[in-house]
Amino acid sequence: MKRVNVAICGFGRIGQQIAELLLNRSTYYKQKYQIDARLVGVCNSSSGLIDQEGLRAAEWLDKSKYKVGLTEQQFLEQVQADVIIETGPSDYVTGGKGLFYLNYALTHNMNAIAVSKGALVVDSKNLINLAHQRHQKLFFSGATAAALPTIDLFEYNLAGCQILEIEGVFTGTTNFILNDMLQHECAFAESLAKAQAKGIAEPDSSFDVDGWDTAAKITILANTVLGADIKIKDVLRQGISHVTADHIRDWKKENLIPRLVGFIHIENQQIQTGVELRLVPTTHPFAHLQGSNKCIRVLTQEMGELVVSGGASAPLATAAAALKDFELMLKHTAKN
Ligand SMILES: NC(=O)c1ccc[n+]([C@@H]2O[C@H](COP(=O)([O-])OP(=O)(O)OC[C@H]3O[C@@H](n4cnc5c(N)ncnc54)[C@H](OP(=O)(O)O)[C@@H]3O)[C@@H](O)[C@H]2O)c1
Repeated sequence: MKRVNVAICGFGRIGQQIAELLLNRSTYYKQKYQIDARLVGVCNSSSGLIDQEGLRAAEWLDKSKYKVGLTEQQFLEQVQADVIIETGPSDYVTGGKGLFYLNYALTHNMNAIAVSKGALVVDSKNLINLAHQRHQKLFFSGATAAALPTIDLFEYNLAGCQILEIEGVFTGTTNFILNDMLQHECAFAESLAKAQAKGIAEPDSSFDVDGWDTAAKITILANTVLGADIKIKDVLRQGISHVTADHIRDWKKENLIPRLVGFIHIENQQIQTGVELRLVPTTHPFAHLQGSNKCIRVLTQEMGELVVSGGASAPLATAAAALKDFELMLKHTAKN
């Protein structure tokens, strides 16, 4: 049976959820792919833990076992991984340590799965080229709306189609907040606190509520799916923190539903991108999204319109999206 060693860089809420799910699925991977997948290392900002035989939950939960300084380059040099899953903070300005982890992995015979968005927002073209040159795999479902299929949709279902328009509700947290405000007619801060308590808000809530998270996903989609070369600062951006209970009451009277929508319009080969608060009628597909559900609508020349909705934000859903990417890698590994 072929062994596949996995390391997780960034061991917070999502990282730990991935570890748990990976362990739970180990028998399934053996049966389905004849692959023995083991988590051999995890690290956070200042320490890490490596066990080449495979970590168990009792080990990774015991912080006293972590070695101080075993992070970043030291961690990657010591952990003998075939795949790294990067789940550190998203840095939209420099790509942060996420960019370092992905670059290092791809240049050192490791496949990579990105869950954080910073590295792809800043440098997706170079990362994709690097993976190609080094014959490694780079997947990033987690960084592009996680449980809502986006990248896969273009790669598989719409392969070869001419894309005319992409728009969607890409941030579960803002959708959750707007839905909660609609339901309770309460203040923005109250609904934000509920989203944070559920663990769906980004560690820095301004990422979500000021539209950065949606702008990041739009940037990654435009550059990877459409071959554009835009920067996140090129995406016109609006947030939702100015929405009040009075706004909500007025909109309800007119049967209008507020949604934070990210869009990419393509006209005469020119790309226009943005994130804006839209008021949609109750019949619109975006109006029906409950809780932290998301939605993508794509208009193509050949296949017409496609709408996919669901993929609610939750740590388990994000972890499952990262392991969906992992499984796509296993399929490839099993074939070769
Ligand atoms: N929450 C969601 O549903 C969701 C969905 C899709 C994508 N994401 C993305 O997933 C990523 C992780 O989210 P989260 O909710 O798990 O955040 P989190 O709980 O804050 O975890 C982040 C982890 O990264 C670690 N870290 C910081 N700097 C590091 C470094 N230089 N090297 C290694 N690890 C480092 C932190 O370590 P310390 O504890 O030592 O600081 C922490 O363990 C974010 O980029 C987020 O945008 C989240």
